This record gives sequence, structure tokens and C-alpha cells, in this order.
Amino acid sequence: MTYQEIWDKARSVMGPNCRVCPECNGKACKGEIPGVGGIGDGSSFTVCREYLSRVKVLMDLVYEPGEIDTSVELFGRKFGIPFFLAPIGGMNGNYNGYMTDAEFLKMCVDGMAEAGGFSFTPDAPYEELFRDSLPPIKEAGGLGVPTVKPWDTEKLLQRIRDIEAAGALAVACDIDSCGNRMLRMAGKPVLPMSPARMAGVVGSTKLPFIPKGVMTAEAAVKCADAGCYGIIVSSHGGRVLENSPAPCSMLPEIRAAVGDRIKIFVDGGVRSGMDVFRCLALGADAVLIGRPYVVAAHGAGKDGIVFYTKKILEELKDVMLMTGCKTLADIDMSKIRIE
Ligand SMILES: Cc1cc2nc3c(=O)[nH]c(=O)nc-3n(C[C@H](O)[C@H](O)[C@H](O)COP(=O)(O)O)c2cc1C
Repeated sequence: MTYQEIWDKARSVMGPNCRVCPECNGKACKGEIPGVGGIGDGSSFTVCREYLSRVKVLMDLVYEPGEIDTSVELFGRKFGIPFFLAPIGGMNGNYNGYMTDAEFLKMCVDGMAEAGGFSFTPDAPYEELFRDSLPPIKEAGGLGVPTVKPWDTEKLLQRIRDIEAAGALAVACDIDSCGNRMLRMAGKPVLPMSPARMAGVVGSTKLPFIPKGVMTAEAAVKCADAGCYGIIVSSHGGRVLENSPAPCSMLPEIRAAVGDRIKIFVDGGVRSGMDVFRCLALGADAVLIGRPYVVAAHGAGKDGIVFYTKKILEELKDVMLMTGCKTLADIDMSKIRIE
């Protein structure tokens, strides 16, 4: 099985919504929601690839060679890889229904567990998506992070109880879903989350709580003050607000504002081990990848997910070798130049 074979197979089954472009950059699918594109003019998606390509890495081969360690500590556990599968839902609405959400979620959770990581899983206006995500996580020994919508407090807390029962690693919450067109179309819009409500949710569970869709240093500090374990710097794949900057471009100022108080995840347009390196250098502790994993799953199921993860990991190791980084702690702003 090669990358090309997996991507060719995916291309033969995924149309018309996802064209499986040679580079997944948001150009062909711009404005397509439902679908896989960025909202409106699509710029909040396309800017991710544009910005990442401006981050150049600095070669350094004058150092004592040794083992390259790509492990990251999260939730009191050690993972061999610092990148994970982002929550993606709507195999029917956003993609073409070639596979069901339940099938896709199982591939995600099992594939990432096998590859040494874990998968975030999504939530939606319809109940099945959230429900279908919990059994695979439970079967995988809890290796998953359900990402719930910021529903009213009663529904949100019920979701959290269900997530605790599944033994999941943590709870994420895509607070940026206020801009989610699918929720509005389903007549189930959600509201922003106040700092007081966030602190209440954090205090209601022993699980680490991770808001997703934090884009400013100010909001990141509020999340840290509310007791969040971490944040996901994300623009929801450019799907909730036109003219958002690339999330990774916000990392330096967010990191400067919160220091090591919280873990920082980031996503948006990450397509290679080089991109993972760039995000870590800009200030992330870990990275999420979304759309390419859906392609990998359509091309070769769970094995596609494992294959793609190994590919990204090998690329990351190559960049670390060439830049004098033996551990993730060595990857910082001194290793890059933004042009
Ligand atoms: C079709 C589609 C569905 C998505 N569904 C969700 C979701 O239910 N919950 C969520 O937090 N993020 C959702 N996202 C956003 C992703 O989790 C992630 O933030 C984004 O896709 C990362 O960018 P990338 O796809 O360029 O790697 C979705 C993205 C896409 C493309």
C-alpha cells in the first residue's frame, strides 16, 4: 500500500464534495458548507496553507547525533506522537455518505490507538454522532477525546457524564460552533461560553476540559483562568468565520500570554510532518489534523489512518534530524524563520 494508491482509491469514491486534491488547501471547495470547504470566500481555510508555507525551517547539523524522541506528555500519559485526529462529523451531510459516521469514527479511534495516539470525536445537532463515538472509545481503553458542542448546561453536563462513563481521556468543546451553519440549519444554534459558565463546567468533572476554537491571547488567558487543561487554537477548519487568520499564526502571542499554564493544541491546514514541526516551533504542544484523515479512511479504512500517521511521523523525524532537534522541547522559534 502506497500513499498514492490510498489517495487514488479515495478519489474514486469521495466525489463530488471532496475532490481529493493533490494539496488539500481549500481552493477547490471554497464556500462549500455543507461540504468540506471554508465558509464564504473560503479564505479562513486557504490562509492556513499560505501561512504555513511562509514558515521556513533552519537546518543545523552541527550537533551530537542521538535517538530522536517525538513523544509528548498529555493527560498524565506519554504518547509517541504529537499530532492527533481532529473531530470531523457529517459523512452524509458534508461528504457523500460512502461510509457512515459510525464506521468512520470506529476507524479513527482504532487507527489512532494502533498508531500510538488518539482521536478527537465530534458532536452534531443529531444525537447519533455523539452516541456512536462513545463505544469505540470505551473499547479502545478510553483512547479518545469527545468534542461536544456548547449546549445548554443541562445537556452539556449530561454529555460529560456519558464521556466519563466511556472512560475517555478528556472532554473538548468546540465553543466556536456559534458560527456553525449546520447547527443553525438544524434549528439548534448555540451561544458563546461565559468565563463563569466555563469555570462551572470545568469544576463539574475530573476530566481535563479543552475548549476548541480559541483564537486570541485574551480568550486563552480566560480559559486558563477558568481552570481549563488546555485549548485548541482553531478556526474550525475555516468553517465558522470568514477572514480568520491561520490559527498557527496566533500561537506565539497566545503562548506568550499563557506560558505553561495550559496545553496548547492547534489545527488548520496541517498536511505534513514539516507542518507539525512548524506548529510546534510556533508554540503548540500538540497538533490536530482533520480533512486528510478522512481521505486516508476512504482510501484504506483503519489501515489508511495508521499509514497516514506513520507517514507524518517519519516526516517529522526527518525535519527534527535536519534541524538538530532530538526532543520536542528542542523545537522552538529559534528553529524557524517567517518570510
Ligand atoms: C467536514 C468537517 C466537519 C467538521 N466537524 C467538526 C465537528 O463536528 N466538531 C469540531 O469541533 N470540529 C469539526 N470540524 C473541524 C475540525 O475538527 C478541524 O478543526 C479542522 O478540520 C482542522 O483543519 P484541517 O481539516 O485543515 O486539518 C470539521 C471539519 C470539517 C472539514
